[in-house]
Amino acid sequence: MNNQLIIFDTTLRDGEQSPGAAMTRETKIRIARQLEKLGVNVIEAGFAAASPGDFAAVRAVAETIKDATVCSLARASENDVRRAGEAITPAKSGRIHTFIATSSIHMQHKLRMSPDQVVERAVQAVKWALEYTDDVEFSAEDAVRSDMDFLVKIFDEVIKAGATTLNVPDTVGYSIPAAWGERMRDLIVRVPNSDKVIWSTHCHNDLGLAVANSLSAVMNGARQVECTINGLGERAGNASLEEVVMAVKTRRDVFNLDTRIDTTQIVPTSKLVSSMTGYPVQPNKAIVGANAFAHESGIHQDGVLKHRETYEIMRAEDVGWNANKLTLGKLSGRNALRSRFTALNVEFPSDEAFNVVFQRFKELADRKSDIFDEDLQALVSDEAIAQVKEHYRLVSLRAHSETGILPVASVIIYIGDVECQAESQGGGPVDAAFKAIESIVQSGTELQLYSVNNITSGTDAQGEVTVRLSKNGRIVNGQGADTDIVAASVKAYLNGLNRLHSKDHRAHPQV
Ligand code: KIV
Ligand code: ZN
Repeated sequence: MNNQLIIFDTTLRDGEQSPGAAMTRETKIRIARQLEKLGVNVIEAGFAAASPGDFAAVRAVAETIKDATVCSLARASENDVRRAGEAITPAKSGRIHTFIATSSIHMQHKLRMSPDQVVERAVQAVKWALEYTDDVEFSAEDAVRSDMDFLVKIFDEVIKAGATTLNVPDTVGYSIPAAWGERMRDLIVRVPNSDKVIWSTHCHNDLGLAVANSLSAVMNGARQVECTINGLGERAGNASLEEVVMAVKTRRDVFNLDTRIDTTQIVPTSKLVSSMTGYPVQPNKAIVGANAFAHESGIHQDGVLKHRETYEIMRAEDVGWNANKLTLGKLSGRNALRSRFTALNVEFPSDEAFNVVFQRFKELADRKSDIFDEDLQALVSDEAIAQVKEHYRLVSLRAHSETGILPVASVIIYIGDVECQAESQGGGPVDAAFKAIESIVQSGTELQLYSVNNITSGTDAQGEVTVRLSKNGRIVNGQGADTDIVAASVKAYLNGLNRLHSKDHRAHPQV
């Protein structure tokens, strides 16, 4: 057993299964580049068979990434596996991750297949996958509720068929650390030739135990952990990459394992994923929360000042806090901006795309004296990179709020090429502005979530607004950033409407 722990990041696949977190090709490329810089071993870039857009996104990531294995998920069906195989073909190192459910409840009610049929299909899927790559991962979905004898049998068969990584998922987040570790150990003991493959763990966080369960599996022989940045993922999310990595590093005395993660890239990656997906990070979140290294009480501050280790087990700078420097200001020119974006892994396909962002930068610099990396990230929308002409575009906004008077907002927007104007009152200026927009577009969407976060500190900071809109069963997140939070809100609302407008139908792998 070697002492390397493989970090398999599934932010772009399981993370994307969070409501509204579906990512465009451009977003995936940006995040994948950052994951490569972070040093993950495997990037699960998506589920290629979900839609043509998903296929294109996985392929684009496969074309871009050179220093990590790029993987696509595939159900155990010929079409899925072949789509995955075609999508990862350009990758320097490509993997197909195929899966089928193995619990009685899933086999009977979801798949309507007998256990023998499931084994046969799993073996067949691995063989199809091997036509494209010799790096094939097999997952037994809902392994947590699967019969152990059956798991031993199916894993034995897929190893014989040629699978190289065997993943044991707690799909529903049901396990507890002792049981999960024991399951991993028993499988490794009972499955023939278990030493010829890598054992992997994939835990969901429904009981808040995803990281603890993953670490327990590692202590019992797993050498790959599937995880996501900020613990993003289906329902309560997946095991959080930053927590797994920092636990293994900080408690090397216990795990005796290394990862190849550059931990100073953790916070920048967390911020990027949060801002691109519209999932803010809670302040008290371990490692990447704003309070993770803040010492509020006087006693703690005193201790830390006298001797840091009194209350700190990790150093903020080791996980990338304070890594973001004050970068640019009003007088910075095009070259300075372009090279800072290059350092942030943002590439512009054309001068026109860069010009749009340069213009935004100049407008921001007029209102905000110090511009940080996070501000720059927020200036670059997918639409700007891809040079998409949005269906709904903001022309101008006027909002008025005064004590004792109902707030009012007036907006002018383009719908296609038609300019429309409306005015409305509301409980606050944001409510008034949204009502004005709705009176024009009559989208009938439900606003499920509205949140504002400051991107940097200070009252001149940009506010980053996320709205979650739902219509006819489709859920999207819209985002907008501005130093004026009413303007940020309107941008977020229009961004959400534009995402709903693009009819992007995609299959869910597990449904
Ligand atoms: O949670 C799960 O079981 C999965 C599989 C597809 C690996 O995400
Ligand atoms: Zn999962």
